[in-house]
Amino acid sequence: MATSRILTLNEVIIQKQSAFPYAKGELSRLLSHIGLAAKIVNNKINRAGLETSILGEADNINIQGESQQKLDVYADEIFTKALQASGIVCGIASEECDEIIVFDDDLSRDGNYVICIDPLDGSSNIDVNVSIGTIFSIYRRITPHGQKVTKADFLQPGTKQMAAGYIIYGSSTMLVYTTGLGTTGFTYEPSIGEFCLSHYFMVTPKSGKIYSINEGNYIKFPQGVKKYIKYCQESDPDTNRPYTSRYIGSLVADFHRNLLKGGIYIYPKTASAPNGKLRLLYECNPIAFLAEQAGGMATDGYGKRILEIQPTDIHQRVSFFTGSKNMVEKAEEFMSIYTDENN
Ligand code: AHG
Ligand code: MN
Ligand code: MN
Repeated sequence: MATSRILTLNEVIIQKQSAFPYAKGELSRLLSHIGLAAKIVNNKINRAGLETSILGEADNINIQGESQQKLDVYADEIFTKALQASGIVCGIASEECDEIIVFDDDLSRDGNYVICIDPLDGSSNIDVNVSIGTIFSIYRRITPHGQKVTKADFLQPGTKQMAAGYIIYGSSTMLVYTTGLGTTGFTYEPSIGEFCLSHYFMVTPKSGKIYSINEGNYIKFPQGVKKYIKYCQESDPDTNRPYTSRYIGSLVADFHRNLLKGGIYIYPKTASAPNGKLRLLYECNPIAFLAEQAGGMATDGYGKRILEIQPTDIHQRVSFFTGSKNMVEKAEEFMSIYTDENN
């Protein structure tokens, strides 16, 4: 919904903080620091075609066994510094670091929050000018103040998230976040260098016409997914089928499009990736929180709400079904009817 007066991210989070139980302005400060880091990363991404030194692979392989792009490393550094500088974050778990990073300086040690982050999502799209993103999730620490945070602070189920969001670096740059009071979107206005309120209360359609899945993996999909894809492709005017297929290969961009238009995103487990590909802590949980807050749904495809999964590892993967409620429910139905050795 458009508003008549321009409201910046900082103004809106200050307005909203009075409704937030742990007020004291901390969460607002934290979100502003994330906004600041996003602007720095956005600037670098926008220049990527010209500053070719930032394109391409870095020399490292991350814990996932995936090669890191230079922008993965850059974004990780910028967000880590910004979060540490906020003084209210005592540790982070990043896709790009094998272990958690504990901030043990005087300023941060007693911070109330830990963050899980995918600093650059969709990195295979960086070098080809296609939308990419950043995904973050914020929890309150559980380790008592005075002690260093441990893995246990990060292994909290998604229902405990205080806030979550993403930045999409697309045809425009947007920051979308939730603190559990709906999903709100801001669009970056480069002329004033601010994220401005553009989508006050985002509500995703109950049903849509888009299904998003990497069909290149078709032969390795569970039977229920194969049958659901067929269902999406069949004609039935009553249910608006056939649906259309859209897949960018950046979770943030695929999810964002479906959030606005209505649709389903699926990354199932496959014969070669028996736990799926996407990571629970810094991809699926924050996206699931945003989806639910917009009236959508997120499950593992086997009847389990993503937000209720008890994590056991900071880089654990999970199969992921998210988007419009009716569509996720229908896909779940297919998953429970059709089973095979890939299920
Ligand atoms: P990342 O770049 O953070 O490693 O994430 C990539 C993820 C996600 O963004 C995307 O939806 C998915 O990988 C695409 O995977 P496929 O190329 O296997 O479809
Ligand atoms: Mn990712
Ligand atoms: Mn990433």
